[in-house]
Amino acid sequence: MKTLRDMDLAGKRVLVRVDFNVPMNEAGEITDDLRIRTVLPTLRYLLEHKARVIVCTHMGRPKGQRVEKYSLAPVAAHLSRLLGQAVPLAADCIGPAAVEAAGALNDGEILMLENLRFHPQEEKNDPEFSRQLAALADVYVNDAFAASHRAHASVVGVTEHVKEKAAGFLLQQEMEYFHRSIDNPQRPLVAIVGGAKVSGKLEALRNMLERVDKMIIGGAMANTFLKSQGYGVGTSKVEDDLLDTAAELLNRARERGIKIYLPVDVIAADRFAPDAVCKQVTIQDIPDNWMALDIGPASVICFNEVLADARTIVWNGPMGAFEMAPFARGTMALAHTVAASHALSVTGGGDSNAAITLSGEAANISYMSTGGGAFLELMEGKVLPGIKALE
Ligand code: 3PG
Repeated sequence: MKTLRDMDLAGKRVLVRVDFNVPMNEAGEITDDLRIRTVLPTLRYLLEHKARVIVCTHMGRPKGQRVEKYSLAPVAAHLSRLLGQAVPLAADCIGPAAVEAAGALNDGEILMLENLRFHPQEEKNDPEFSRQLAALADVYVNDAFAASHRAHASVVGVTEHVKEKAAGFLLQQEMEYFHRSIDNPQRPLVAIVGGAKVSGKLEALRNMLERVDKMIIGGAMANTFLKSQGYGVGTSKVEDDLLDTAAELLNRARERGIKIYLPVDVIAADRFAPDAVCKQVTIQDIPDNWMALDIGPASVICFNEVLADARTIVWNGPMGAFEMAPFARGTMALAHTVAASHALSVTGGGDSNAAITLSGEAANISYMSTGGGAFLELMEGKVLPGIKALE
């Protein structure tokens, strides 16, 4: 894979695919700009080397139509503040508006194209749309790790029409941490997997079980595993259709000598609400009409011990409903443990990163991946199409 340092960039028009699909509040303000800040090294390098930079990204899922709330205007304005230079927004990502804006760029200038997903051809990986995007530039750079699991026109199709293509610094960094954490880790490797559903992470669980030394399972998905082992989990979220699968995964791990750790106690609540009545109970004692919404303090002690000798930790998914204060303690405690550990710690997924940021430990994690679905697909053992297309 070529990198930016292998290229002569001065005076060249460089199309940079980024993933600026950032969370926004009702007022249209960006609530977390990690995905923008992490691409700044690539953009600054290009601008310092006198390239003419054309940034493109998707935002949300506008289903191939122009939807004003998914306009990139606030993103372009934010990027302009971070770079300290003007970032005009072209009204469209292809056609006359884009061609004219790209043609008017001088060396060391930058512009952003409007949301790629305003065109249905983007998600269809349409060859003509890909060709039009490629025609805007001399060089294509993929720095959109978080979108590289999508075989879309701006990620895959475009690479067939450009003269030169390369990986940006963020993409390189993401892949380096993937190699160090999942592909070729220092052992013991401990995975922490949490979040709402087993179904969304089945492939990741299967693949990681072949790679890890130990695995901690928490969050609502732990309920399905607990129930598969005969524990009563009250009214907790459970995927009953996956009870056999959960039991199979546990058996498979046992056969292979991989240790899986489930919660030994939980914070149970009489309903799913921040003002619910809560109590701390062992997994043997979850009352019939109560639900588990966080791991309990005994589980935290147990998981801390599991992590004590880890040399690599990969974390995806929170331990409970951390967005409600009474159910945040388990996830926060684990965030402090992972942050204090001497292991290489890599986290991915919007919820995990939001939880770590909330814990105040973001600076103490070795690497917070910008990928959600893309990170999960690496955990599943898949090759990302956007990365393959660069090779
Ligand atoms: C993400 O947020 O994971 C990426 O931006 C991809 O978005 P998508 O799931 O809408 O393709």
